[in-house]
Amino acid sequence: MENKRMRTTLRKFGTFYSICVSILVGASGVAPTHAQTYPFSASDVYFQNNLNTFWYTYGENENSGDSYTSCCGLNSVWTEWDAMKFDWTAYGGYRTTEINYLENSQKINGINGVTGVQPTGYVWSWGALETWPDNNSYHAGLGSYHFDQIPRYINAIYDNYMWTRDSLFISTMLPRAEVVMDSYLLGTMQGNSGTVVIIPLASNDGTAGKRPSTYMDQVGSGYKDAWVNTGFYTALRDMAEMETANGNTTKAATYQSLANTFPSLFESTFWNSTNHRYGGWRDTSGVLHDYGYTYINLEALARGLGNATDANYIFGWLNGPADATSGGAHAGSTSMNQDVFGPRTNSISTPNSYWDGWSDPSSGRLPYGSLVEDGGSVLWEVYYDVMAHLRYDNADDAMAIYQAMLLRMISDSHLLTFNQAITPQRVYDDFGDSITEIGTSTPYPESGIAGIAFLNGFLGVTANLSGLNVSPNLPSSLFSAQVTQVNYKGTDRTIEVSRGTTVLEQPSNNSVVPLTSGTTLSQQFTPSGTFNEIGVDMGTYLTTDSGFLAQLYQWSGSAWVKVASRTFVNYPNNQWQYMAFPVQPGGSIYSLNISNVSGNIAWDINTTSSIGGAYQNGASIAGAYTFRVGDAGETAAIRDTTQNTADSLSANFELAQTFTIGVPFNRASMHVGTYVTQNSGFTANLYQSINGDWVHKVSQQFDAVVDNSDVTMNFASMPAGTYKLEMTKDVGSIAWYRDTTGTYSGGSAINNGVTVPGRRRFSVYQGQYNIQVPEKDINTTINAGDTYTMTN
Ligand SMILES: *[C@@H]1O[C@H](CO)[C@@H](O)[C@H](O)[C@H]1NC(C)=O
Ligand SMILES: *[C@@H]1O[C@H](CO)[C@@H](O)[C@H](O)[C@H]1NC(C)=O
Ligand SMILES: *[C@@H]1O[C@H](CO)[C@@H](O)[C@H](O)[C@H]1NC(C)=O
Ligand SMILES: *[C@@H]1O[C@H](CO)[C@@H](O)[C@H](O)[C@H]1NC(C)=O
Ligand SMILES: *[C@@H]1O[C@H](CO)[C@@H](O)[C@H](O)[C@H]1NC(C)=O
Ligand SMILES: *[C@@H]1O[C@H](CO)[C@@H](O)[C@H](O)[C@H]1NC(C)=O
Repeated sequence: MENKRMRTTLRKFGTFYSICVSILVGASGVAPTHAQTYPFSASDVYFQNNLNTFWYTYGENENSGDSYTSCCGLNSVWTEWDAMKFDWTAYGGYRTTEINYLENSQKINGINGVTGVQPTGYVWSWGALETWPDNNSYHAGLGSYHFDQIPRYINAIYDNYMWTRDSLFISTMLPRAEVVMDSYLLGTMQGNSGTVVIIPLASNDGTAGKRPSTYMDQVGSGYKDAWVNTGFYTALRDMAEMETANGNTTKAATYQSLANTFPSLFESTFWNSTNHRYGGWRDTSGVLHDYGYTYINLEALARGLGNATDANYIFGWLNGPADATSGGAHAGSTSMNQDVFGPRTNSISTPNSYWDGWSDPSSGRLPYGSLVEDGGSVLWEVYYDVMAHLRYDNADDAMAIYQAMLLRMISDSHLLTFNQAITPQRVYDDFGDSITEIGTSTPYPESGIAGIAFLNGFLGVTANLSGLNVSPNLPSSLFSAQVTQVNYKGTDRTIEVSRGTTVLEQPSNNSVVPLTSGTTLSQQFTPSGTFNEIGVDMGTYLTTDSGFLAQLYQWSGSAWVKVASRTFVNYPNNQWQYMAFPVQPGGSIYSLNISNVSGNIAWDINTTSSIGGAYQNGASIAGAYTFRVGDAGETAAIRDTTQNTADSLSANFELAQTFTIGVPFNRASMHVGTYVTQNSGFTANLYQSINGDWVHKVSQQFDAVVDNSDVTMNFASMPAGTYKLEMTKDVGSIAWYRDTTGTYSGGSAINNGVTVPGRRRFSVYQGQYNIQVPEKDINTTINAGDTYTMTN
């Protein structure tokens, strides 16, 4: 990024000021103030509005609060980011704008008569300059050559082509991509010589005092640069697909074979086995430099480098402490996410010998924590954070990261944007974070890619050689999600995904009913068809430790019979949460009772709704609470129905069952008994086996459970693998049934760590997604983990 403007800002506004504005964060979120139709929607309107506000502000850059007025970067380093933002839509003509830059303005040596200092295929560093515009007196007037823009140019061509399938575009651009790949990346940078790509300039050899080589333009990285290589990996795969599309299978096979061997080269070059993460670069003398680069690690994972073991180490590191910052709004903080919307860019201060001071203020280098390139944070990184978690972890963890970013944004009076075009300039947000410390609006048009994680990640909408793919991976808080304004091969469409059928819902609120100690709130309803989950939307007044007991009852004709229960703890403010249970028949009256509240919480209600009936301490009140009754598509992957013994949890501190599953799964149930008690419960945990360790994934609390029932945990799809389902912390009298003669080859039943004969009575389910594209008459259902592909 270009820091010259920031330096000016700091000079002018050397004294810190902050704007204290308190805003009300309501259940509808912050809706964009603009009249157009917004592309994203979801079964959670609060999330939907915040996401659209993000997109409007940082994607389309149409929010006047943001001083950035262009849709796109339209400059060398931004080509891939611009394409990621707009390859999928014709809205606003922004795709045409960024393609136009790529096709007509990007300078490359050896193409269209362009010549420069560097050899053929070198993609210029900054628009009409061969070098980065850091040619000031600090550098004796000589700018630095950058290298991250080189693979990004190829990736941008691929992204745009796979969405448009414009044959004229590819006939012009594939030959250019070949020059960049063959002459520069494989030739000059030695990508064809059994190594990662190598920066060939002595000025950028990665040793002390040498030049920056990437967009992180104050960090003297070079020689074997990990960030440049993450982009190169994508470029190899992109070239293989583009050559196949163009009919040259020989060339495609060459690129594909380089792509196939690349991950192990990347791993052996950059993996730091002391710290268990990728370092930043390996210099010309072979030394690996690792100052804790979060953006490189996350981008590597998001692009498909690494594996689940590596990812688990990296996520563990990101969840742990970092070096204390010495400047900025959070000076002294050891929190990796000190700027709340995402991780700091590097967890260790860059040593002075690798710091390039070309855009330092005249007062000198800013302390660690006060600059985006050294201890600060950048919004765009959230894209890679979410995508890495979706690839190697699960959608609930990815959504928690996404929601934290959105909450931080809407909690600031100007949505975290800065503005230097107004007087007084806005150079601090409401939290005191400065424009140099968090990278949000100008000059960061790439921030908007974080909005696209919803499209590419949770909805799983991507375009490649196979076609337009939909491979959803929804968090458990979303029952359905939708995107409009999708433009594939020149035609517009809407893509809707849902994990099942909505049987009955009352999704909106115009008021709230506070839940206080001793209160029971209930919602009665009569579903027309079968159902297996129910969701509610609650506000917690921004607390993160409030909860309640949810119990579902069916009216038998003479009495209420309990069907299922679950205790929700640490309820996330204004998010829908769902309770799952075995399929229930429609056609009779049910009641969802909410009680045993802890903390500060209120149930959203629509006082004019007449769906079912709302009750407060048994008395009828006007309207209906927010609720959604769903029939989620589920296929039993493991289902055991026999038992001949009951293992008592009271006699054990832990009961467990391990299993290996070849498909993703989003539910697991345990068949439990309560010895006829009414108020017994336990905590259920799910662990995944990673590199021989049991890594904790999900914890849920069940109280007042139903005797002889399948108590069901529900979560975002977990990847195929080996898991342990565990029951612990008993309240009252609880048993998990087992069949001592039952055989199950995928795992064992365990009491207090000791394997016992047979297997427990348990079930594991694979979810499904319904996909609808009305313009194409598509209405189909796939298993979670599968992909639906459109070819037109
Ligand atoms: C130095 O940078 C400026 C713009 O910042 C540019 O106009 C000029 O051509 C550059 N000079 C060289 C030698 O690259
Ligand atoms: C594929 O590319 C190679 C290398 O550029 C070339 O020699 C060959 O003729 C091409 N084949 C086709 C079918 O275009
Ligand atoms: C990994 O990083 C640590 C800390 O920077 C460093 O001491 C160590 O030498 C690095 N390991 C390798 C294999 O380079
Ligand atoms: C993941 O990659 C690391 C480093 O190359 C390797 O040691 C490990 O065996 C891999 N794990 C799996 C499960 O492939
Ligand atoms: C395209 O992407 C989909 C979804 O990730 C994947 O299933 C398919 O294999 C990809 N096609 C190609 C040619 O890589
Ligand atoms: C809807 O519920 C939320 C809490 O979830 C509350 O903040 C908001 O004020 C409610 N909306 C109205 C119009 O009462």
